Amino acid sequence: MKKLNAIKHIARKGMNDRRKSIEAYMNQLEHKSYDTYQHCLRVSRLARGFAAYLQLSPSEQAKLVQGCYLHDLGKLFIPDAILKHEGALTTEQWSIMRAHSMFGGMILDQLFTSIDSSIYEVVVHHHEHWDGSGYPSNQNGEQIPYFARICSIIDAFDSMISDRCYRKGLSYEQCISELRKHSGKQFDPELVERFIKFTNSAGYPLLPSTPAYVSVL
Ligand SMILES: [Fe+2]
Repeated sequence: MKKLNAIKHIARKGMNDRRKSIEAYMNQLEHKSYDTYQHCLRVSRLARGFAAYLQLSPSEQAKLVQGCYLHDLGKLFIPDAILKHEGALTTEQWSIMRAHSMFGGMILDQLFTSIDSSIYEVVVHHHEHWDGSGYPSNQNGEQIPYFARICSIIDAFDSMISDRCYRKGLSYEQCISELRKHSGKQFDPELVERFIKFTNSAGYPLLPSTPAYVSVL
């Protein structure tokens, strides 16, 4: 019995250490790029509202929100000259930028011997496109993990609607029109319509005080 408790204690301590490590990585991301970190927080907040709107189970909601919070974690390894570049990137810079989703997966792999696959999939696959033209795996349609398809829409919506230091965000109407324009190409068409309905529901806009995420790691 004593031995079992000792093993449980070590396992719990290991999990706490990994949780701290992931937060340490996110803190580093905040220092490296405040914009990227704030984007991660906003995406996770929107995910929280959308997950509730979709009536996912509490555990699924928490996993989606956590995945969305971590989705751009891998940008920690993207050189500042590329990450903070204003204007169009060169082909070579793009290929480096695109590696961020795999870098994020590598960080999670390194910290966790097993992590819930739905969280991992959001981080690695949030840039896949419905028509197969995305990255890193050129998955298409329902091959793309469900939570990654959700994150892709919220990620794009937040990127368009938010002000950046070098440009003003688009209006709500412009963002919705962009989502519809790319529906069935970049985004899951059914999820786009559900997301638009969500943005017209009581769960949106979310108060800034809404907790960004609940750790399920
Ligand atoms: Fe990303």
